[in-house]
Amino acid sequence: MTTETRTEADPIDGRKLNELVETSLVDLGATVHAALVVVGDELGLYAALDDAGPLTSAEVAEGTDTAERYVREWLRSQAAGGYVTYDPETDRYDLSPEQAFVLADEESPAFMPGAFQLVASAARIEPDLREAFRTGEGIGWHEHDGDLFHGTERFFGPAYGANLTDWIGALEGVDATLRAGGCVVDVGCGHGAPTIHIAEAYPDSTVVGVDYHEASIAVARERAETAGVADRVDFEVTTAREYDGADYDLVTMFNCFHDMGDPVGVAAHVRETLGDDGTWMIVEPYAEDRVEGNLTPFGRLAYSISTVACTPTSLSQDVGYGLGAQAGEERTRDVVTEGGFTHFRCVAETATNMVFEAKPQ
Ligand SMILES: C[S@@+](CC[C@H](N)C(=O)[O-])C[C@H]1O[C@@H](n2cnc3c(N)ncnc32)[C@H](O)[C@@H]1O
Repeated sequence: MTTETRTEADPIDGRKLNELVETSLVDLGATVHAALVVVGDELGLYAALDDAGPLTSAEVAEGTDTAERYVREWLRSQAAGGYVTYDPETDRYDLSPEQAFVLADEESPAFMPGAFQLVASAARIEPDLREAFRTGEGIGWHEHDGDLFHGTERFFGPAYGANLTDWIGALEGVDATLRAGGCVVDVGCGHGAPTIHIAEAYPDSTVVGVDYHEASIAVARERAETAGVADRVDFEVTTAREYDGADYDLVTMFNCFHDMGDPVGVAAHVRETLGDDGTWMIVEPYAEDRVEGNLTPFGRLAYSISTVACTPTSLSQDVGYGLGAQAGEERTRDVVTEGGFTHFRCVAETATNMVFEAKPQ
């Protein structure tokens, strides 16, 4: 439709146009700001403010071995975005307790720089993605750069630490089984953040982490050594449809079920490897069942990450189901029951995650 015919049939509403332009300006600021959060995180600029603020730009630069002119501009952009607090009286910058919790505390469940690292990395495949839109081909998780894997670990890891025992406690009978000493396989474990949290919470249980991505498994093994749990955590390079073992008490998948090329086949394999009383815990991004329910700030983030990373990963694998990161409970239930499970329920929700319990019967 040309502009002329569009204008006749569907005239432009000036107020709506201004709103959209304003939204675009906010988004443009956020887009360039995202790269600067990664810079500040990597160069220790937030950490310097947290350790010793309020500081002048010269003091931040001196403490981080960086160039003052860049740091000054960065600090001003951060203050404009509300990520850093500026005192015009003293020309000094600082982090409020909330800013420090979100930007400088690596262990905080609200720590965000990992998420920025993840998103900035995923966006780097934009040329490949454009081509993939044309061909419909997938892009494997392993084809991204290392920041995607590290960002995922840093973003999700603290939230798993904060929620894991509540989530497992919400599953029928699983907490008692693992306390007594159970067998767990964590599928699609990445750098092993959830696997290691399980091992720490349940020292009498044995845990295996599996992932098809060899480089992630190598990091996961190092993380288990550092955490002091390598004696009871094993990691293996294999796929969700092929991992070994039987009679598991618990199979877990953290934010990865929708990444699988063949989620129905994966469900069938999980069923084969679970014991009769075993439980499958599936942690997925929070989503409503209908598209319109996900047209929210979180839905935008999740659909966008799904477009650049999750859906291409699924399309790169056998079957190429492309479930997407905003599938919601109903669609996830359909896939799980198609794979042979009869019991499926949502046991917990946070602002960003839903936790499902599936049992063979
Ligand atoms: C978003 S990351 C989540 C990693 C980890 N579960 C976490 O939450 O930190 C998705 C992971 O699924 C893995 N993955 C994707 N498809 C897989 C498959 N078919 N079999 C095993 N792992 C798979 C990827 O390699 C990646 O490590």
